[in-house]
This record gives sequence, C-alpha cells and structure tokens, in this order.
Amino acid sequence: QSGVMGERVEPVVPGPDLVGVNVERPMNMAHQQSSLWNKRQQAVCVRHAFKHYGSKKNPNHVLSDLNMTVAKGTIYGLLGASGCGKTTLLSCIVGRRRLNTGEIWVLGGKPGTRGSGVPGKRVGYMPQEIALYGEFSIRETMLYFGWIFGMNTSEIKERLQFLLNFLDLPSQNRLVKNLSGGQQRRVSFAVALMHDPELLILDEPTVGVDPLLRQSIWNHLVQITKDGNKTVIITTHYIEEARQAHTVSLIIL
Ligand SMILES: Nc1ncnc2c1ncn2[C@@H]1O[C@H](COP(=O)(O)OP(=O)(O)OP(=O)(O)O)[C@@H](O)[C@H]1O
Ligand SMILES: [Mg+2]
Repeated sequence: QSGVMGERVEPVVPGPDLVGVNVERPMNMAHQQSSLWNKRQQAVCVRHAFKHYGSKKNPNHVLSDLNMTVAKGTIYGLLGASGCGKTTLLSCIVGRRRLNTGEIWVLGGKPGTRGSGVPGKRVGYMPQEIALYGEFSIRETMLYFGWIFGMNTSEIKERLQFLLNFLDLPSQNRLVKNLSGGQQRRVSFAVALMHDPELLILDEPTVGVDPLLRQSIWNHLVQITKDGNKTVIITTHYIEEARQAHTVSLIIL
C-alpha cells in the first residue's frame, strides 16, 4: 500500500486485563514517556486513559490504559467493533465526559479548562447521534451555531452557501424535523465544519451518505489537512474509506 497517503495500520499491543487498548506502534510507545512540552505539541494526546460506566462494584470497563497520539495536520481514523468505546473516547476528548483516570491534552490544553477552547470554537464535533433543533430550518441552524462560534452573519451566509453545495443539502428553508435521516446527518456534519475549526472530531460522519458524497467528504478532509493546520479524528465502520487516513488505529475488545 505504499503511496496511499502514508497509510499505517498499527499492530496490536496486548496488555494485562485489557478491555480496550489503543494500538500504537512501538515508535509511538516511546512518546508515552514524552515530556509535557511534547504532549502539548500534538493535536490530541491521551495517556493511560481508564473509563468505566456503572457502579464501582459492578463496573463496565470501556477504556483500560488507552493511549493515543494524534499529530497536527493529520487524519486519524479510529476503528473498532460496535461498543468498543469509540464514542466514549471522543466524548472525553471533546470534554463532554470525563475519564476516571488518565490524561487528555487537546490542542495544548486540557478539555473543559478555562482558556482551552475545548469544548468551544477550537473544535468542530459531529456526535454520533443527531443533536439538532427540529423546529429550526437549515439556515437558522447554521446561524445559531455560527453565532455561538463567534462568526458574523455575512461570514455564516457565505459558509452556508459553500456547505449547502458541498453536502448537497436541500433548500435552506426546510425544517430540520422534516428532513430525511441522511439529510439530518449532513446538516450535523455541516455544523461541525461551519467555523472551519482547527480540530474536527467526527463520529461516523459517513453513515447514510451515498458513495459519491462519501468520496467528496474524504477529499475535503484530505484537502484541509494538507497544509498542516487542521486535524481530523474520524470513526467509521467502513474500513475501505479509512485508507485515506494518515493513521489508522484500532480499539480491540
Ligand atoms: N451513558 C452510558 N452509560 C452506560 N454505559 C454506556 C454509556 N454509553 C456507552 N456505554 C457502554 O459503553 C460501551 C462503549 O460504548 P460506545 O458508545 O463508546 O461504543 P462505540 O465504539 O462508539 O460503538 P458504536 O460503533 O456502536 O458506535 C458499550 O458497552 C456501551 O454499552
Ligand atoms: Mg459510537
């Protein structure tokens, strides 16, 4: 596969009592001892992450000593069986959930801390489940999120035109609640792209998307990461499309 965007499929590194493990190469394992400075240079750096749901007596261990290093300017494809903890990991990175123990650095800061910009305008997050307002039209949805991200109305309108066209969305006056499932997912994706964030975190953005649009979405992701300023973390069950990521990582149950 040489020539395919530096594709690397990481080997499995088994550990004791493993539930979920990130699969980083021995080369990256060295990074795990890295200095604070080094961790802050990465787009995302997760170290010794543990996360369980449920009570202490009867815990459901989802992440067990997971490590992850996402270099700036790359696409990081996160794969793994349903229920292995991808969404859990992403929601901790974006600051919606907290780890039980372990460290997360996102764009040089800790998510949820003052001044980190995470959650906030430094990241664009497309959750797996749609989280839009049904009563808003597509246009109102974009204005709402654009204003939250600190954009002015003319910037939003310009970006909206690009996104409507790029994601093949229906009329901007249609209400979100009257859109098809796939159309709603594309609106959700458009919201994540709206403010052109430094870090895009996309939880299965290509579910329900036709193959042509899926290809143009990936082309766009490759394009925005090319100059090294933007970083993308993306989960998918379509292994073929993950070929276009710079790093492919597996969470093994
Ligand atoms: N809020 C929650 N409370 C309790 N358990 C949860 C919660 N969210 C997820 N889980 C459990 O944690 C595990 C990991 O779920 P998660 O949604 O992170 O998996 P996933 O890899 O994203 O799966 P999928 O590919 O199906 O989206 C599953 O066993 C799930 O049942
Ligand atoms: Mg998920």
